[in-house]
Amino acid sequence: MPVMRSQIVGCGSYLPAQCVSNADLAIKIDTTDEWILSRTGIRQRYIAADGELTSDLAAAAARHALGRAGITADEVDLILVATSTPDDTFPATATAVQAKLGITRGFAFDVQAVCSGFVYALAVADNFIKSGQIRTAIVIGAETYSRILDWTDRGTCVLFGDGAGAVIVRATAGAATASDPDSAGILSTHLHADGRHRDILYVDGGPSSTQTVGHLRMTGKEVFRHAVTCLAAVAEEAVRANGLSLADVRWFVPHQANVRILEGVARKLAVGPDRMIMTVQQHANTSAASIPLALDVALTDGRIQRGHLVLLEAIGGGLTWGAALVRW
Ligand code: COA
Repeated sequence: MPVMRSQIVGCGSYLPAQCVSNADLAIKIDTTDEWILSRTGIRQRYIAADGELTSDLAAAAARHALGRAGITADEVDLILVATSTPDDTFPATATAVQAKLGITRGFAFDVQAVCSGFVYALAVADNFIKSGQIRTAIVIGAETYSRILDWTDRGTCVLFGDGAGAVIVRATAGAATASDPDSAGILSTHLHADGRHRDILYVDGGPSSTQTVGHLRMTGKEVFRHAVTCLAAVAEEAVRANGLSLADVRWFVPHQANVRILEGVARKLAVGPDRMIMTVQQHANTSAASIPLALDVALTDGRIQRGHLVLLEAIGGGLTWGAALVRW
């Protein structure tokens, strides 16, 4: 069997129509634009309309990505939806997306790794491609966090938003080679989890525990500390595994949680913040959707170019964290 690598050949995104500024929130919640902006960098977030489901956001982002890649739905072998806000407990949101895209072939499932979900799902797609089992995957991060926020808890509800992003991943002949700028593709993925930290970021409900959906709970300072440490460590792990250095990475596309976390990571890695793609200001923390949303912005405005080395990395509830090093 010929050696295959995974290439990202298209990216798309979708944000709901309703944009809510910090000032809008301050009308209903005991908060201020100044507090949110200074602690997080967030200026606004998007909120899904009544009846607008995670699968609707996901399908819109997937259509956008398919169009960009010039790929038709009948070429898709696998649909992965990274989400922790699925439409229903089951079936998987990915199967709803499959139906909404009019696809009747291949297979589809959800990946649940909270804010690390997109990196986890990309790793799953990459491994299916490298093993020769599929040729084309849609990898989507999609969330409606507005539905699991406790809108009376000002310490969490101001931080999150709804949205979706997607990439098309295709099999390409030949191994991905770190030293060859012409070999576009995923060089490696690195996934981690440590369930001992469950209580610093979780949802206090679920089908088996409470038979309710529950609300997001977080110890912000603890999450902040782990985020900076783990994101810096996994970035170093990814470049080292490829015989590269951080100086070789043109763009860092981290999970968009908080500008201060990303600046902390940049400082720890001694990387200029101008090499970090930051879009959290515009859409807040959209969990599994945040990396493809940020990617779409940086591809559309021309910052990410063919041949660039791009490091995607995330951390989320679990704790889970991970990275993917990609030659564009
Ligand atoms: N508006 C105004 N005041 C607020 C507020 C809000 N929305 N939320 C909390 N406060 C208040 C608190 O009540 C507290 O008041 P007190 O000192 O009178 O008790 C004060 O602000 C300080 O809160 P604190 O929690 O110490 O602030 P912080 O500097 O740690 O910032 C976070 C809080 C949540 C912004 C910060 O911890 C963080 O970003 N953590 C990481 C969160 C994250 O990104 N999670 C997802 C990762 S995937």
